[in-house]
Amino acid sequence: MKKITIAIDGFSSTGKSTLAKQLAKELGYVYVDTGAMYRAVTLFAMQQGLISNDHFDKQQLISALPQITLQFQFNPELGFAEMYLNGLNVEAEIRTLEVSQQVSRIAEVSEVRAKLVEQQQKMGEDKGIVMDGRDIGTVVFPNAELKIFMTASPETRAQRRYDELTAKGQQVTYDAILQNVMERDRIDTGREDSPLVKANDAYEIDNSNLNREEQFQLVLKLAAEKRA
Ligand code: DC
Repeated sequence: MKKITIAIDGFSSTGKSTLAKQLAKELGYVYVDTGAMYRAVTLFAMQQGLISNDHFDKQQLISALPQITLQFQFNPELGFAEMYLNGLNVEAEIRTLEVSQQVSRIAEVSEVRAKLVEQQQKMGEDKGIVMDGRDIGTVVFPNAELKIFMTASPETRAQRRYDELTAKGQQVTYDAILQNVMERDRIDTGREDSPLVKANDAYEIDNSNLNREEQFQLVLKLAAEKRA
């Protein structure tokens, strides 16, 4: 079987990363969560006081980009790679609602995207990779052998994210999350550079009514066809 590149794009909280992780494990492929990279840059900007609800010093962030080093390090206990920002494990900090509320504005900056896309393309040079994000099938790997585009209603996605965050003990409300999901959709689909859009040759999966296992089996079958 040949090694392929699998691009999984779609709206936030559609279960992209769950599917991508499961798929990578089954195929023995590397899994890369590109959202974690945008989140880590956002955390850096927050720590440096460059972004908050009512302020964003974009030029300062662009100047500081060379000071940002991002790495994924595999954690054998968890079975997936964790995000490191300048040598520190930031896996927990990047998943908070506070970071989610700023990340779309960071992801609009072309200089940020160029830096991250270059790193993502290097990671995928040898194929055998499952990468999830918003622009993987359109910009990062336009020639990926298998492209999946995932959607679900905002309410389904907000409920999923609410369950995830409350399970981790975070104090959040369903309404705040639904608002964040809808606001991120608006910014992610409306931005000028690499907006969230389905690639022409992507398979669309609306998982509002499809359970995890059905979804996984469907994509596994598509992957087997492409690997043959
Ligand atoms: O997948 P996620 O929710 O962790 O992604 C966080 C944000 O990062 C999302 O709102 C949009 C942005 N993003 C992006 O613009 N391009 C990617 N390839 C991945 C994420």
